Amino acid sequence: MTQAPKRSSESETEMVQVVLPNDANPLGFILGGTVMHLIDIAGAIACHRHSRTLLVTAAVDDLQFLHPIKVGDLIILKARVTCVFNTSLEAQVDVYSEETLTGKRQLTSRAFLTFVAIDKDGQRVRVPPLVVETDEGRRVCEEAHARRAERLRKKNRGR
Ligand SMILES: CC(C)(COP(=O)(O)OP(=O)(O)OC[C@H]1O[C@@H](n2cnc3c(N)ncnc32)[C@H](O)[C@@H]1OP(=O)(O)O)[C@@H](O)C(=O)NCCC(=O)NCCS
Repeated sequence: MTQAPKRSSESETEMVQVVLPNDANPLGFILGGTVMHLIDIAGAIACHRHSRTLLVTAAVDDLQFLHPIKVGDLIILKARVTCVFNTSLEAQVDVYSEETLTGKRQLTSRAFLTFVAIDKDGQRVRVPPLVVETDEGRRVCEEAHARRAERLRKKNRGR
């Protein structure tokens, strides 16, 4: 069945939450694992909105934490679908800290995640095509193809 193509803007997702002491290490910085959890959730929401299917996370690319996010700061996650393959798709999640009193914002992480669409029996299902409307979008999707090839190369190397 042919599926209607969708724009990236239809699935863009922004999540905001305040960093509470329970999320933090003894230095008062958010735990890396908590950030990873939120990245997975934000990426999955964008991909669910695009695919409207069940999904599993297949891969999360290298992740760096560029700046600490302190207790009392906001953590903001912006997720968007960058490229659709066959039954899989890639999301980019940018993470920012925002100081509540000054509004100062910093990019703290950028992650690329791959999700695979499945039905309720666990069978792979095709994902609707992505409408890429801008030169920037085309560039990011081309880069996503290169990232996908590298992921599959690494996966097959590990077998
Ligand atoms: C992800 C998973 C479904 C892939 O199954 P598989 O049989 O190895 O995959 P296939 O070779 O049939 O490939 C299916 C699609 O997944 C993609 N894929 C598979 N492994 C991948 C990887 N490591 N990275 C990126 N994409 C991957 C393939 O490129 C293919 O995409 P396409 O249809 O768009 O071309 C399977 O390994 C799985 O269920 N993993 C556990 C997922 C999970 O539990 N995640 C939660 C965190 S543990």
